[in-house]
Amino acid sequence: MPSRRVSKDTPPAPRTVHRDAKQDQLAGFREDPAGEILTTDQGVRIANTDDSLHAGESGPTLLEDFHLREKIMRFDHERIPERVVHARGAGAHGYFQVYSSLAGYSSAGFLQDPEVKTPVFVRFSTVVGSRGSADTVRDVRGFAVKFYTNEGNFDLVGNNMPVFFIQDGIKFPDLVHALKPNPRKEIPQAQSAHDSFWDFVSLTPESAHMVMWVMSDRSLPRSYRMMEGFGVHTFRLINAKGVAHLVKFHWKPLLGVHALAWEEAQQIAGKDPDFHRRDLWEAIDSEALVEFELGLQVVAEEDAQKFGFDLLDPTKLLPEELVPVERVGRLVLDRNPTNYFAEVEQVAFCVGNVVPGIDFTNDPLLQARLFSYLDTQITRLGGPNFAELPINRPVVPVHNNQHDGFGRQTLNTGAANYLPNSVGGGFPRPAGPHEGGYAHRTERVSGHVVRARSPSFADHFSQARMFLASQSPIERAHLTDALAFELGKVQSEVVRQRVVDVLLMPVDPQLAETVARALGLSPSSKRTSQGTVANAGLPPSPTLSLVPVRNPTIATRRIAILAALGHIGRSLATVKRAFEKGGANVEIVAPSLGAVKGADEIDSPAVCSLLTAASVTYDAVLVADGEASSLVLAANEDARRFIAEAYRHCKTVGALGAGDQVLTAAGVDLASEGVVVGESAATFAAAFIAAAGQHRHWARDRQRA
Ligand code: HEM
Repeated sequence: MPSRRVSKDTPPAPRTVHRDAKQDQLAGFREDPAGEILTTDQGVRIANTDDSLHAGESGPTLLEDFHLREKIMRFDHERIPERVVHARGAGAHGYFQVYSSLAGYSSAGFLQDPEVKTPVFVRFSTVVGSRGSADTVRDVRGFAVKFYTNEGNFDLVGNNMPVFFIQDGIKFPDLVHALKPNPRKEIPQAQSAHDSFWDFVSLTPESAHMVMWVMSDRSLPRSYRMMEGFGVHTFRLINAKGVAHLVKFHWKPLLGVHALAWEEAQQIAGKDPDFHRRDLWEAIDSEALVEFELGLQVVAEEDAQKFGFDLLDPTKLLPEELVPVERVGRLVLDRNPTNYFAEVEQVAFCVGNVVPGIDFTNDPLLQARLFSYLDTQITRLGGPNFAELPINRPVVPVHNNQHDGFGRQTLNTGAANYLPNSVGGGFPRPAGPHEGGYAHRTERVSGHVVRARSPSFADHFSQARMFLASQSPIERAHLTDALAFELGKVQSEVVRQRVVDVLLMPVDPQLAETVARALGLSPSSKRTSQGTVANAGLPPSPTLSLVPVRNPTIATRRIAILAALGHIGRSLATVKRAFEKGGANVEIVAPSLGAVKGADEIDSPAVCSLLTAASVTYDAVLVADGEASSLVLAANEDARRFIAEAYRHCKTVGALGAGDQVLTAAGVDLASEGVVVGESAATFAAAFIAAAGQHRHWARDRQRA
């Protein structure tokens, strides 16, 4: 085909993006087998896929059976290497929209027009576990967003915690080796409760702040939809006039930030290891709210030094009380992937994927990441052409002279594959001054070439202390328990003692002493000299605490109603409707599946049995009315345990009418906070919704707080 006649004066095609641009592009790659005939990869129709070709019915299999060979060969190569970290994840499509133009901060096209919905793909993940590990382990969560913008892909590859373990990326392999299973035994899976992790962090005092975060409830999110996201590093936004601002990126979930209880998280790991993946999928499938606001903390370049810590140090956060988070846009996830492997597994995020108007800083952790992602994906995705995979393709055209390599798909038709050229008309040509070419910021740099850390990175404990001081008493109790649990799994007494002395003492002697007692140790009298202890008196930052609940709601929460033969179906149906009106997902749990006969001739459909369900996978539990039903449930050990665990995990529990006998049989104190009982279905429903909107009733756990 003759090529388009263009000259250097021909303006490039305008680059616009609409909400469905990515879906339209993906549609061209989708395969739908409905109504179709089975074929080989070559398109040849197959008449029999159950028997291979033999020489005689009991004879040897013949090599000429091309279908057998192709089918087995393809199966043999289905696996690809899992991500070296963040191997387990779940993803979804959606869009991002700014509330108003951010032109004052950034020239990035997708941040200009509140009418524009930019398609996105998001992958949430755990960090340490393998691809098949459980979702609810104690770990950092990844929060990676790929924006398919009108100027190319921008990836915001963040975590659900605003700081990191190390200050320089050269230590990342050491950190991950220490975190991952022991190389000789390949145990333990998906957890930091082992010697090598605590050995490493106790010899790396810069990790103190992150250790506080990981031991806090933040590492046990209730749902991917209920956790914050952070870009961690300080980035730069640059406007059309070339003025730069430093920026920290945040994601704020509209459903609030909520955590699981540690015991609950461990039980869910057995009952439903896919808990978070399932939650995300089902929420999107049922068109429930999965929404986050993009937040920016913007700092003028000249103010970079005014906070008493270095903004380039990724072990420090910028307290919201010092620089408030401006909520500038919303991220809506509203479409599940059509194929897990092709989308969630093959997506390749890279911190280096930026668009004009967004730039980096000299954060040494960020700088190492700029290399790591592209590099690892060459191995993980089998060669350098992974940007051509459907999920990774930008929705704007790609033109360059990078070609060939394993799995190349594009048919480059240009006459020349180099620049400068004349035989190809000089194309693809670099962008002119007003054509949106990426321009790295101009920065004066001077100094000696040194392999050393900036002295401004030396304070490792002030913010760890600030984080701890910002926790409510119950959160502090959880954090202390977490340390006692993790260190209790550490075999080496030397390592345990070092953690107490070197990491915990400089953060908080009381914390160190409590943990030491739980481990049968005592904190060493000599204080460590490692790490500088400065700015001891940073004030607490209330936004770092998850208590109190800032947006009480039952929307998208899971409520279990226990019922048995002889329950009152009418009142059950009334409260169920009220909960569903509030946006909750309600499931009836009974001794066995199917229709549960009501004493009032109104049956209730049980979708789970006491055998398959456990209250750890629900947010609130109540017992239906009915004398006969209550007698059955009170005598049923599984039912009593169902309720007792919900009560122990400080969830809202309740009973309609005679159902209160079941609560009592399960050991519930009917007078305690978050226990709702009542006769009238309507009044009961309102009280239960108010209590369940609080999510947890920590007063019940007062002895630990
Ligand atoms: C020098 C430090 C770091 C290095 C070298 C590094 C390296 C990597 C590598 C090699 C992967 C696997 C990527 C793939 O196979 O596609 C990865 C994934 C990831 N990293 Fe990092 N990482 C570092 C620090 C961080 C930090 C500080 C964050 C958070 C701000 C982070 C967030 C993530 C996320 C979210 C993923 C998963 C991306 C996905 O869902 O595919 N990493 N990292």
